[in-house]
Amino acid sequence: MAHKIAVLAGDGIGPEVTAEAVRVLKGVRDDLEFEEALVGGAAYDAVGRPLPDATLALCRASDAVLLGAVGGPKWDHVEPAELRPEVGALLPLRAELNLYANVRPAKTLRALLMASPLKGDRGLVDLVVMRELTGGIYFGRPRERRDQGNTAVDTCIYSRHEIERIAVRAFEIARQRRHEVVSVDKANVLETSRLWREVVDDVAKQHQDVKCSHMLVDNCAMQLIRDPQQFDVILTENMFGDILSDEASMITGSLGLLPSASLSEAKNGRVFGLYEPVHGSAPDIAGQGRANPIAAILSAAMLLKYSFQDNAGAQRIEDAVDAALTDGVRTADIFEKGTKLVTTSEMGEAIVRRLA
Ligand code: IPM
Ligand code: MG
Repeated sequence: MAHKIAVLAGDGIGPEVTAEAVRVLKGVRDDLEFEEALVGGAAYDAVGRPLPDATLALCRASDAVLLGAVGGPKWDHVEPAELRPEVGALLPLRAELNLYANVRPAKTLRALLMASPLKGDRGLVDLVVMRELTGGIYFGRPRERRDQGNTAVDTCIYSRHEIERIAVRAFEIARQRRHEVVSVDKANVLETSRLWREVVDDVAKQHQDVKCSHMLVDNCAMQLIRDPQQFDVILTENMFGDILSDEASMITGSLGLLPSASLSEAKNGRVFGLYEPVHGSAPDIAGQGRANPIAAILSAAMLLKYSFQDNAGAQRIEDAVDAALTDGVRTADIFEKGTKLVTTSEMGEAIVRRLA
């Protein structure tokens, strides 16, 4: 039976890079069926809402979601702010689809090591940020302006259940890697962090084969620059994860090449997830064939790995990306003298050709 993938290409370079990801998936498997739907500014322009009901319904009826990118200057001033693509599409997608586990790998591609801002081999990292994605200060209530607008309130709430389920995911992923989890919090100040630590310790007791330690978030920000190779899996709450995942990805020197997965519970033996590049919609280069499709293509590899347990398929994609880069194939963003400059679709083609 065919698996259904919802394709939400979105705005800016989203459609161009997503097209290449779909092409690569078709090159690896012939049992996938793709259906497109509107999201972000494109959806706002078409139907007045960045996340139409039909799009949400398609996601619910699919086995996995492939997302391009949303947003752009055109919609930055849309009022009310809830109708802007980022807040009006991304956050509700996460909440409605219960995508509580955000997996953000930061792995340096050897061929691009010189792009890391860290000296020598220090930029050679292979870590994963496991970010809680549907709780904390992003979603806490109350959240309002008070006293004639002169005071603002955001609320950070976490329950044992919310912490437990993301922690379990982090330990499971660590088991497929180097068996180390560093849980990051601000337990010297925040009550939610003290609960976080308590629950993570409980979960750690059920995963004794994985080494678990705790680190304060300010220290973690510093350690990521000082010695990023010490990290295997970083487990943290929503807002800390937002910040640390940007920092971690920059260490690889190629923020624009990194994929991500946002996972829900397993149902019928399959993990439902949404897969998207870490980069944004890059409206300045949209429609010119200059965008790098590698982050979208590696997101497709994550889709195979996490939603279909197809590790071999995922590996084939990752190896093909490595091979293309090693052969000097480059889009404009990573071009250097002596390499071969190609367009978005030529990069997709180069990767498809190298699928073992
Ligand atoms: C991310 C982004 C989003 C977030 C924004 C666009 C709402 O920064 O996915 O990391 O803060 O989660
Ligand atoms: Mg972010």
